[in-house]
Amino acid sequence: MRTVNVNASKNYDVIIGENILNLLPQKIRELFGNAKVMAVTDSNVFALHYDKIKKELDETGIESDVFVFPAGEKSKSPEVLFDLLETLAEKHFSKSDVLLAFGGGVTGDLTGLAASLFLRGVHIVQMPTTLLSAVDSSVGGKTAVNLKAGKNLAGVFNQPELVLCDTKLLDTLSDEIFADGMAEVIKYGVLADENLFDKVKNGNVKNDIEEIIARCVEIKRDIVSVDEFDKGKRQLLNFGHTLAHAIEAQSNFEISHGTAVAMGMVKAAEISYKNKLTSSDFSEEIEAACRKNNLETLCPYSTDILAKFASSDKKISGKSISFIVPERIGKCVGVKLGVEEFVKMLGEN
Ligand code: GLY
Repeated sequence: MRTVNVNASKNYDVIIGENILNLLPQKIRELFGNAKVMAVTDSNVFALHYDKIKKELDETGIESDVFVFPAGEKSKSPEVLFDLLETLAEKHFSKSDVLLAFGGGVTGDLTGLAASLFLRGVHIVQMPTTLLSAVDSSVGGKTAVNLKAGKNLAGVFNQPELVLCDTKLLDTLSDEIFADGMAEVIKYGVLADENLFDKVKNGNVKNDIEEIIARCVEIKRDIVSVDEFDKGKRQLLNFGHTLAHAIEAQSNFEISHGTAVAMGMVKAAEISYKNKLTSSDFSEEIEAACRKNNLETLCPYSTDILAKFASSDKKISGKSISFIVPERIGKCVGVKLGVEEFVKMLGEN
């Protein structure tokens, strides 16, 4: 078992280990006394794992309830968010009670936002059940729902008060969903840790997964603790993501986030070398690491199409963007580009 402490606007522990669900009741009592727990989970995780946490909570006499929503990105919506808020009100949850986000990124983002809105703030614990949420979305406090105009357009920063990551829960992930998380792991290696990159570049990571998750969380912690509100350094975490967002949207979300990030990282490395933003080309190394971890890297869209999407992206239009480029494996930097300049550069590749 490993613990990474995050010191941002809240100070909290991220505890990572195999078969550590039994820590949940003890930690809840320690942090929140006699609080009542509302577990929030999707239909898949509910069927697979909810009975395990329910048992732990019941055995310690912690009062709990569960809110289950249909699995999938469509549920990351204002409708499901308000359904959850109404449920909390109907069930008389109070300011001293706890929301427990038990699932992947959709669950974590939705529940984190609900916790900041309900009664202007109730306690929030994140329990990630996917590799992607373990290394990324459960830590750092970004919460959001999607709007019709795009992904993550309504949200707040709300750091959790505890993250409990039981690696045993990852055993039920399909190879595809596991690979999705590996795209983010490879991203952390490229942006901050050559040893991590070397460790994961040949695949076969499952035996070391606790150590790998902890290292990713440390890297994220180091970034979030100096730029919690995404004004500068935190944008490094977007390596591969500017293009990934365009790829995901262009595919109507048929291409998963992790696959899009893998494609986006390879393209970003290629484009930055071709445009002399970097002095070496790391695209092949990144591509090989992604492929060894079961990630498709060949983007089915021309950069022209991605450029069109990028220019209409609600989050970046009218501004400059910080395009993240790999200086070497283990170090990325942000290059400020005007949106028009960025789109032109994409279109020319
Ligand atoms: N997922 C990127 C971030 O937390 O900033």
